[in-house]
Amino acid sequence: MASTMMIANMYNDLTWEEIWGDHIHQGFYDLNTTAKPDRKTAQFCLIEETLHFNNVSVKKPKSIVDVGCGISVPAIYLAKKYGAKCIGIDISPYNVKRGTKISNAQGLGDMVTFQVGDALQLPFLDGKFNLVLSMECRIQLHDKTKFVRELVHVAPGATTILTDPCHRDLANEESLKLNKEEFFLKSKYVLPEWVSRAQYVYMFKSYLLKVLHLF
Ligand SMILES: C[S@@+](CC[C@H](N)C(=O)[O-])C[C@H]1O[C@@H](n2cnc3c(N)ncnc32)[C@H](O)[C@@H]1O
Repeated sequence: MASTMMIANMYNDLTWEEIWGDHIHQGFYDLNTTAKPDRKTAQFCLIEETLHFNNVSVKKPKSIVDVGCGISVPAIYLAKKYGAKCIGIDISPYNVKRGTKISNAQGLGDMVTFQVGDALQLPFLDGKFNLVLSMECRIQLHDKTKFVRELVHVAPGATTILTDPCHRDLANEESLKLNKEEFFLKSKYVLPEWVSRAQYVYMFKSYLLKVLHLF
């Protein structure tokens, strides 16, 4: 099983930024249009789509946490968009340092801050935030159920936005045999445990949360 330390060490230099750019997450490509956005635009589109689906702009969050924040760009984007305070937390000291540098270069001061911490043991008081974002951090967590519990505690009743590569939902009794795309994803990431969308829904529902949108 990949340890937390192994995962932190995966992100200890510029490699990911060079490959992915300053967002380390997938993009949103609208199949209903012929326009093909560039990668960075598509990555911003993904954030916008999730905010739109969850009606976040109406709720105007003022206190946001980005769990597994990478090198900061989603956190900075949200803080600026909503004039909110945003804390990014990441297991990688390198990412936290890099995020702080990028944020400071934009003069954001204590509006956006970063700290090293483990998503499986969030160092915050219960109920501290009114929006939780976590983009593609969960794939690397070995205990998804514990992660969901942590999120529910730091922001009970608040909107929680998670994006994550999942394997397909399985029919009853079906065991997972990876298809081509799943095999590709699994071989590219350190995936200590990989689950389907249905399993995430089940975990959230066990906290009596309403699951609004899946896509
Ligand atoms: C694929 S990157 C996504 C980064 C960022 N969310 C983004 O969208 O740009 C996954 C991030 O999760 C972080 N991560 C992995 N395991 C973690 C853990 N246990 N606690 C906190 N962060 C973790 C990694 O260090 C990495 O920055």
